Amino acid sequence: MSRRMIIAGNWKMNKNSAEARDFIAELKGKADFSKNVEVAVCPPFTSLQAAASAAAGSAVKVGAQNMHWEESGAYTGEISASMLAEIPVSSVIIGHSERRQYFGETDDTVNQRVKAVLKAGFEPIMCVGETKEQREADKTEEIVERQLKGGLQGLTEEDMKSLVIAYEPVWAIGTGLTATPEQAQAMHDFIRKLLSKLFSEAVAEAVPILYGGSVKPGNAAELMAKPDIDGALVGGASLKADDFAGIINAC
Ligand code: 13P
Repeated sequence: MSRRMIIAGNWKMNKNSAEARDFIAELKGKADFSKNVEVAVCPPFTSLQAAASAAAGSAVKVGAQNMHWEESGAYTGEISASMLAEIPVSSVIIGHSERRQYFGETDDTVNQRVKAVLKAGFEPIMCVGETKEQREADKTEEIVERQLKGGLQGLTEEDMKSLVIAYEPVWAIGTGLTATPEQAQAMHDFIRKLLSKLFSEAVAEAVPILYGGSVKPGNAAELMAKPDIDGALVGGASLKADDFAGIINAC
């Protein structure tokens, strides 16, 4: 069974256009693109165009970090599908825990965004994950199940062919506290079994599930070696070409 392997960098609120260009030029020289690994970077909106130009003709894809479900209108601060199509992006991160935590993102808005991203022909990278308190209260599976059911509500098996899930335990994001490969594998297995129940065995087998949370060149290989971990969504270590290339090359 072969699933796609994806290493995506979430730059969050980092890197202007010049920095994005420099990063991609450097990455092209350092990462081994001959392996069967898809590589993407997700810059802030203002650096998307520069990143896309720098990445043109290379194996590096460019994604956005958010997208609104309406085509246009009075939604201050939001970006629509047709705006992202101008770049164009290939993927869009939806429901990152920072958006849930600081910007009022709910399972319902995640669901609306995911549907709009699919309709636009981009690939949603839908994020789920529990907080430290939720894990300590033994609610990890309950929370992740609720986020998945809510976010994927109304999607078809066909839709699921273009969707990527990222499991990012909130306590592991930016903290240096990576989930152990065993902890991550257990949750990826849980997510895959849930996909099988919600959709089908074929969907569960095909959907790439990325791990996110303090992934570094030094821990990437053991995480990626787990059967249900199909890549990584990388924050901090995606900001330095050396580190990001190290993660790609560790796959
Ligand atoms: P870090 O890799 O900095 O922990 O961030 C992970 C993340 O949030 C990726 O979306």
